[in-house]
Amino acid sequence: MLELQHLSYSVSSPEGTNEIVNDVSLTVPDGTLLVLTGPNGGGKTTLAKLIMGLAEPTEGTVVWNGEDITHLSITERAKRGISYGFQQPPRFKGIKVKDLLSIASGKRLLRRSEACEYLTRVGLCAADYIDREVDTSLSGGEVKRIEIATVLARESGLLILDEPEAGIDLWSFSRLTETFRQLHEKRERSMIIISHQERIISLADEIAVVDHGRIAKKGSAAEVFPSIMAGTGSECLKEGTVCPN
Ligand SMILES: Nc1ncnc2c1ncn2[C@@H]1O[C@H](COP(=O)(O)OP(=O)(O)O)[C@@H](O)[C@H]1O
Ligand SMILES: [Mg+2]
Repeated sequence: MLELQHLSYSVSSPEGTNEIVNDVSLTVPDGTLLVLTGPNGGGKTTLAKLIMGLAEPTEGTVVWNGEDITHLSITERAKRGISYGFQQPPRFKGIKVKDLLSIASGKRLLRRSEACEYLTRVGLCAADYIDREVDTSLSGGEVKRIEIATVLARESGLLILDEPEAGIDLWSFSRLTETFRQLHEKRERSMIIISHQERIISLADEIAVVDHGRIAKKGSAAEVFPSIMAGTGSECLKEGTVCPN
């Protein structure tokens, strides 16, 4: 189980202190899917980075399976079974897709059929990609799916994905949502997915709307969806908001 206790992350600048994540407390029970959604700039990516150890909180605690991991490195967290897929994944010139999957799986030699299976699960035609380099010749959506495949190959206890839908065509997106649905059905792992897509949101056990660094709303899809659709939660959507000079 993952527990976030009063987690905050602030950055200081000459203009003052900016609370990017502000006193967030959340629990993700084993085997459940939490979807984080909300307006751009709300603090979702930062919150995910605090869980993975890519940023260190200014206040609060991250507890994973009863252990305080707040000050552990990314590597230590990965060893404990937490894995993360970036909103904009890096490219690795000179490394082939199959190598990246092997490294992720921790097996020295991942069987070709296994590697292909991971690619298929994210909607990629495995034969076209398995021997390609993860360089700039791949589109953003392709790199994104390859990265999600590596996260799946890690077989971790907690999977964090930041906007997996970004840059992906509708057909592949259907395949990807089906993969998430199947993974969730097994309830072997906990998942946190940052998403704006109704089809992903509807898979969630719980949805948290992150706005201005806080949990603005939390509940089931049925409870939270009407307010998302109504566009509440973001000040700039309110009528009559005046743009400052
Ligand atoms: N290290 C940082 N320094 C200054 N501002 C940051 C930093 N990281 C994030 N921010 C700002 O915090 C806000 C939340 O960012 P982010 O977590 O990426 O939001 P989201 O993923 O919800 O769109 C944004 O306004 C972003 O510009
Ligand atoms: Mg983000």
